[in-house]
Amino acid sequence: MARQFFVGGNFKLNPATLSAKDSLIDSLNKADLDPSAEVVIAPPALYLLPVLSSVRKDIKVAAQNCYFKESGAFTGEISPKQLVDAGIPYVILGHSERRTLFHETSALVATKTRAAIDAGLKVILCIGETLEQREAGKTAEVCEEQLKAVVDVTKDADWSKIVIAYEPVWAIGTGKVATSAQAQQAHADVRAYLAKVVSPAVANSVQILYGGSVTAANCKELATQQDVDGFLVGGASLKPEFADIINARK
Ligand code: G3P
Repeated sequence: MARQFFVGGNFKLNPATLSAKDSLIDSLNKADLDPSAEVVIAPPALYLLPVLSSVRKDIKVAAQNCYFKESGAFTGEISPKQLVDAGIPYVILGHSERRTLFHETSALVATKTRAAIDAGLKVILCIGETLEQREAGKTAEVCEEQLKAVVDVTKDADWSKIVIAYEPVWAIGTGKVATSAQAQQAHADVRAYLAKVVSPAVANSVQILYGGSVTAANCKELATQQDVDGFLVGGASLKPEFADIINARK
């Protein structure tokens, strides 16, 4: 079964002003984009609703994080229910910056994933190893540990609501992109693990994105890899070259 090419733009804590956000959305609205690619952009929480109302309708909007409670005394959080109610279809969970800077464990990421799916969101679930873990030959093991927490709280059917983003931590924002062979190997390993612990059908249908210093210059080769179904783009999603990345298979 062919998996749809998927490109996410994770704006992180950018841009810094409303007017810069307007220009970014304006240029995306004018870009010539491959209609067969699914495109999702994740602006900071403050900009979710204005982006939702100003971005072209063939681009979907994602939150960069959410909590697992529906409402209550949780200062600073956004709930899955609020996102769904506001018309936001996707949420990124488990990004390495959340895991590292905000101490999110795989168990917490799994709890959030469960709550997000239950509320009706689709989840872009990020996994990936540090340089130290890669050099110790632990890439597959680390990805499996991060996935296992989610596998333990999901059923087969839930995986149609999950897109996996493999983001090696050493490649994020560093300009050091994984080679296409490294990306392919990690993605194939993830698929093999899911075939074993979930089902071959899920392993075959789940989209696995690569993230980490993706640019217009390196995306085409990465996109030729059999198990690379698209990208989660950070820095380059804030630049005009994001359109070229979306068009990597055009
Ligand atoms: O989520 C996307 C990401 O972490 C990659 O960031 O800036 O290396 O493309 P960047």
